[in-house]
Amino acid sequence: MKLLGIESSCDETSAAVIETIGSTNDLRISSNIISSSAMLHAKTGGIVPEIAAREQIKAILPIIEESLSQANLEFDNPDIDAIALTVGPGLIGSLLVGVETTKTLSMIWNRPIIPVNHLLGHIYANFIIDQKNKPSEINFPAIGLVISGGHTDLLLMESHGKYRWIGGTHDDAAGEAFDKIGRMLDLPYPAGPIIEGLAKKGDPLRFKFPRPLIYEKSLNFSFSGLKTAVFREVQKTRITQQTKCDISFAVQDSISSVIAIKTANAAIKYKASSVLVGGGVAANDTIIKTLTLECRKRNPDLKVFVPSKKLCTDNAAMIAAAGFYLNKTQPIEKISANPSLYF
Ligand code: KG4
Ligand code: ZN
Repeated sequence: MKLLGIESSCDETSAAVIETIGSTNDLRISSNIISSSAMLHAKTGGIVPEIAAREQIKAILPIIEESLSQANLEFDNPDIDAIALTVGPGLIGSLLVGVETTKTLSMIWNRPIIPVNHLLGHIYANFIIDQKNKPSEINFPAIGLVISGGHTDLLLMESHGKYRWIGGTHDDAAGEAFDKIGRMLDLPYPAGPIIEGLAKKGDPLRFKFPRPLIYEKSLNFSFSGLKTAVFREVQKTRITQQTKCDISFAVQDSISSVIAIKTANAAIKYKASSVLVGGGVAANDTIIKTLTLECRKRNPDLKVFVPSKKLCTDNAAMIAAAGFYLNKTQPIEKISANPSLYF
């Protein structure tokens, strides 16, 4: 089986071809082309939706053409079984570009569309074989942890397609907290990876920020109090380069601890065998190390899976992987962009 994936929910435009290996369900990437407009949003400290949508329009067809060509497929009538498409959540202008382009191609090529929830896509990045991933070791029940720019969610996954939401953030998402704190520190968007870099040179003892809801029984998160605490500190402190590093350390430490404890609590509560992490924030090594240690401490048999960094941030290969496992095609007239799609 061969699938074309298309992703355009935010500031990345991506197309990918994935295929099964032999008669197995193992998925291999034949191409995964990503173009990002993040550079254009760097100065504003956050995404400007109109600019993101305009860049999607410019990029989408060349990216699809490149993806097919790298997978040795003809653009005119590619040998694919279906198109997996992100239909939400995301920015409406960006989503519409992917949805309308895919509908047109689906009619020209006479291939069905599998609508995919972008958040599930992040989790399904773990089911793609690459240098790091070993999907054959994933066992259910699994806890899915989505940590991205717009979402922080915990899912209980009983099997493919059988999942339910068990917790999430009351306010800011983890990535949003990194990005907003980055803006306070005058760092460009997206600030998450920059804060991770600065934290390496930070003094671990200088600042300590709140770890919201860490000892609360629920599986919910809240990061807006952390943001306020940093704001207060920034107002009364002279912000030197070293201060940025020290604040970055404490912010990352606070976010890592909360994510590690809450996710391990979820895994123990639901007797999970695996934890599947996804989303841009999963590219943060400290967060993953803290989470893995906590899970191992609570249950040595619990396995934590994290995609390689390129598959953590937005890409179409993860959308195609989710499309493959969930495999629910929909007639074209039922497919529409849904910016607030949830679980
Ligand atoms: O999943 P993603 O590419 O897009 C969304 O669906 O939101 O995630 C983007 C988010 C941004 O908030 C970015 O700052 C954060 O992921 N991020 C990181 C790191 N790399 C990306 N946060 C912390 N550490 C990183 N290394
Ligand atoms: Zn995403």
